[in-house]
Amino acid sequence: MMRILVLISGSGSNLQAILDHCASGKIAGDVVGVISNKADAYGLVRAKEAGVATAILAQQQFTSREEYDAALLALMADYQPDLVVLAGFMRILSGDLVRHFAGRMINIHPSLLPKYQGLHTHQRAIDAGDSEHGASVHFVTEELDGGPVILQARVPIFAGDEADEVAARVQAQEHSIYPLVVRWFCEGRLQMVDGAVRLDGALLGPAGYACE
Ligand code: GAR
Repeated sequence: MMRILVLISGSGSNLQAILDHCASGKIAGDVVGVISNKADAYGLVRAKEAGVATAILAQQQFTSREEYDAALLALMADYQPDLVVLAGFMRILSGDLVRHFAGRMINIHPSLLPKYQGLHTHQRAIDAGDSEHGASVHFVTEELDGGPVILQARVPIFAGDEADEVAARVQAQEHSIYPLVVRWFCEGRLQMVDGAVRLDGALLGPAGYACE
């Protein structure tokens, strides 16, 4: 069984989707730990309910990003993860940490990357007049929200939509695509090779695995 470590900052609904898929046997892996940078993250409650070990590493204890990330790296290494899953972990990670887990760390971002890297993606898509939006799962590289895309899900934006309506639509899709990608990884089907994604040995295009 693959050892999965999940990093969160908030609600943990993506964590929950992954926990559920592990419990039902769809993912050949176990979530061995959940780390949060926020003590009040609801995802910590979800982890405890699933019997998963949790740890909190609050940024206030540290004076620099480098110091925080060195402590985070040491804490992460304790779990001996095969896969690190960033699930709403709202911190930028330093190059050392990212390089340490290269090819073994994935993230979900609420936009159709490369569009709308960074924050407030739903509002930005609405403001731009986009008719579609979505979420992307990608390998983490040193470029923020810039690693190669594995899988995307698209949702429509309707006239008059508010950001929270679009966010809810996107999140529903996230809960399908993130566990699927974790499943692929745990089955040994997914690799990052020379900055590109291979699924079952086949090179994926810029939008990742595409199915109509
Ligand atoms: C998700 O929608 C995820 O795409 C986003 O945070 C949310 C976490 O929700 N991630 C980012 O914005 C990363 N840049 P959750 O805590 O309920 O899984």
